[in-house]
Amino acid sequence: MVRDLSISEIEDLGYYDFMAYLKVPFFNIGGTPSLDLLAQRCGIDENSHVLDVGCGTGGNSAYLAEMYGSQVTGIDISGLMVERANDRAISTGLEDRLSFSVGNAYDLDFPDGTFDMVMTVFVSQFLDLKKVFPEFIRVLKDGGKLGINEMYRADYVPENLISKVDAGEEVYQYLTELPFSIRTPSVWEAGFRNSGFTDVSVESFTNVVSIGKGLDMIQDFGGWSVLLSSLWQIVKLGVQSGKMREKFGKMSKGKRVLLNDRETAEYIGYVLGVGRKG
Ligand SMILES: C[S@@+](CC[C@H](N)C(=O)[O-])C[C@H]1O[C@@H](n2cnc3c(N)ncnc32)[C@H](O)[C@@H]1O
Repeated sequence: MVRDLSISEIEDLGYYDFMAYLKVPFFNIGGTPSLDLLAQRCGIDENSHVLDVGCGTGGNSAYLAEMYGSQVTGIDISGLMVERANDRAISTGLEDRLSFSVGNAYDLDFPDGTFDMVMTVFVSQFLDLKKVFPEFIRVLKDGGKLGINEMYRADYVPENLISKVDAGEEVYQYLTELPFSIRTPSVWEAGFRNSGFTDVSVESFTNVVSIGKGLDMIQDFGGWSVLLSSLWQIVKLGVQSGKMREKFGKMSKGKRVLLNDRETAEYIGYVLGVGRKG
C-alpha cells in the first residue's frame, strides 16, 4: 500500500511518482481498443510471456493478463508506480499472472531471449531508441515481437501550428525531465529497422476526440468514481500549495495543446508499431 505523504513530500515527487500518487490508471490515448489491436498484431495468448516496459500502475498489464491470459511482467523506474501496480495485481486477483518490479528500460534485469512480446505504451517516446530497442531485442525470444503504442506527429504540420506542437513537447520535457520527443511515423519505423527488427509495421491513428470515445475512456479509467476522486485530489492539492497549482497549470497546458486542441488534433495521434526479432 502507498503510504500517505505530507504536502512537501508530494511537492517534491518526480512527475511519474506524482502521477502514481494520483492513481492515474493508464496513459494510453487510444484506450483498450488500441491495446487489443497491439495484442492481436503481436499474436499473444495464454502461452505468452509479455514484458510491459514502463508499466506505470499496471493498467495495461492487467488488461492483457485478464483478456488474453498472458503472463505479464511489468517494470517501471518509478517505485510508486510499481507499488500501485502491485496493489492492482492483488485487487484484481491476477497475482498469478502479473509481477511488477522497479527496473530501467536501458538495462533490463532479464536473461537474453526471455519474452514473446515486449510492449511500451507511452514510454518509448521518452527514450533514446538507438539505446533501448537493442535492449528490447536482447530480451525477446527469436520470433518475438516488440509492440509499441506511442505518440506521433505527422510528417507535415502547417507552419502556423509547428510552434504549438513544439510548445506541447517542451511542457512535457520540463515536467518529466526526460528527452520527450514526438516522432514522425517514418522516424518510428526507422527506429525499428535500424535496430534489426523485421516485418516492421507502423500504423498511425489520429486522436479525434468524440463524446463516445471520451465516455469509453472514462470507463477504462475505472469509471466516474475513480476519475472524480483523482480530480478531487487535484483540487485539494491545488488549494494547499502554490507549487502544485503551477504544476497543474503546466500539465493542463501540455494536455490542451497535445491532446485536446482542435487545430493540432489532425496532425498528432498515436502509432501502433510492431517489429519481429529474427
Ligand atoms: C506515460 S507513463 C505510461 C505508463 C503505462 N505504460 C501506461 O500506459 O499506463 C510513462 C512511464 O514510463 C516510466 N519510465 C520512464 N522512463 C523509464 C525508464 N528508463 N525505464 C522504465 N520506466 C520508465 C515512467 O515512470 C512512467 O511510469
